Amino acid sequence: MRYLIFIGLTAAAGLAQAADLNAAVDLAKASGCYSCHANAEKVVGPAFSAIADKYKDEKDAAASLAQSIQNGSKGKWGRIPMPAHPSLSAADLKTLSAWVLTVKP
Ligand code: HEC
Repeated sequence: MRYLIFIGLTAAAGLAQAADLNAAVDLAKASGCYSCHANAEKVVGPAFSAIADKYKDEKDAAASLAQSIQNGSKGKWGRIPMPAHPSLSAADLKTLSAWVLTVKP
């Protein structure tokens, strides 16, 4: 019985996480991120999966990516800069930066 409850809880947590990821993708689409980025290949900006890979061992990656998204970024990936996104809320920045770090090619 305890085992079944455990499976139930794990499944629910997995579903909640999947829902969060879908919400993050929708937010990225609605925020125009996909006009310059794709998951697996470079467009104007680097692939989201390449960003996830580059920062996978950095403890504060999510916070620093949130800064990059909010204030813009230049010189980390090439010569093309990313413009600032001043209208994103703190919560949205947190969602987007945490999600980018999960993108697989
Ligand atoms: C106008 C094109 C453009 C748009 C729109 C854009 N990006 Fe970028 N993004 C870039 C470019 C170019 C870079 C590389 C900047 C550099 O070399 O530092 C980049 C870099 C990044 C990075 C890596 C920053 C770092 O510190 O290494 C993240 C994360 C990112 N973008 C997320 C997003 C998200 C999320 C959105 C939507 C809110 C978005 N981008 C919208 C062009 C864009």
